[in-house]
Amino acid sequence: MKIGPLPIEPALGVAPMAGMTDTAFRRLVKRQGGCGLVVTEMVSSEGLVRGIDRTLEYAEYTEAERPVSIQIFGGDPAKMAAAAQIVEGMGANVVDINMGCPVPKISKHNAGCALMREPSHAASIVSAMVKAVKIPVTVKMRAGWNDKEINAPVLARMAEDAGAAAVTVHGRTAAQAYTGFSDWQLIVQGFVDDDHANPSDPAHVLAADCQKALAKESRYGSGHGGSVGPTGNELLPPGGQTGSADACLFAGKFQECTALRWC
Ligand SMILES: Cc1cc2nc3c(=O)[nH]c(=O)nc-3n(C[C@H](O)[C@H](O)[C@H](O)COP(=O)(O)O)c2cc1C
Repeated sequence: MKIGPLPIEPALGVAPMAGMTDTAFRRLVKRQGGCGLVVTEMVSSEGLVRGIDRTLEYAEYTEAERPVSIQIFGGDPAKMAAAAQIVEGMGANVVDINMGCPVPKISKHNAGCALMREPSHAASIVSAMVKAVKIPVTVKMRAGWNDKEINAPVLARMAEDAGAAAVTVHGRTAAQAYTGFSDWQLIVQGFVDDDHANPSDPAHVLAADCQKALAKESRYGSGHGGSVGPTGNELLPPGGQTGSADACLFAGKFQECTALRWC
C-alpha cells in the first residue's frame, strides 16, 4: 500500500490517540514489528505556528518510528497550511488533519469533528495544505457529527478532490464520542460504492471480504475492538486477537493508497 509515493508496509498503523501515542509508545509498538505507519497524537496548528514548546514536544518523533505522520488540528486554512509547512520542515512523512475530535474545547473552535459540519470549509483546509507542502496530506474523520448527519462518504470525496492522499474513517459519530458501535458498514460501503475503485484493487477486495464477514457476523461490534483479520479475509469479533481497529483508510483513485487498518 502507498500513501502518495510513500510505501506503507504492512498496511497496518497505530491510530492517533491523544495522551497515549507519544514517541515512547510509538517506539514500543514499532519494536513489536508489523506496524507500517505511526501517527502522533493531535497537535495544535495554532501552537505550531506560534512555536509553543509544549506543542512542538507533541510533534517530536525519532527516526526509529518512520514512516511518521503528524496529525494537526485547527480550523483556519492559512494557519493549517503554515502548520503543515512546519510539520514538513520537521521531516514528517505525512501530515494528517484531525476532523474527528468530538471534544467541545476543540469543536467550538471549528476544528476537529466540527469541520464535518462545514464540508466546503473542511475541503478548503485540505486544499490550502496540499498547496503548501509536498508531503502527502491525509484526513482522519468520523462517520459524521451525529446519526442525522452522517457524511463521511461525501466529505471523503471532497477531501479527495481537494488533493488528500488518503482518508481514514472512525466509524462512530462525534455524538457517540467513544461509546457504542462503530459503523463498519459505512466504511466498507465507502470502498464498494467507489466509482473509481478497480475491482482487483486490494481495497476493493478487502471491502468485499469485510462485507461478507459483516453479513455473517450478526453480533458484530460491542464497542471498541472489532477488527479485520490480518489478511483482511475475516472480521474478528470484538476482543479478537488483533486488538482494536475501527478506522480504515478508504480510497478510490487516492493514488495507490488502498486500505489501512489501525490497531
Ligand atoms: C484515548 C483516545 C485518544 C484518541 N485521540 C485521537 C486523536 O488525537 N486523533 C484522532 O484522530 N483520533 C483519536 N482517537 C480515535 C482513535 O484514533 C480511533 O479512531 C478510535 O479509537 C476508533 O477505534 P476503537 O473503536 O477501536 O476505539 C482517540 C481514541 C482514544 C480512545
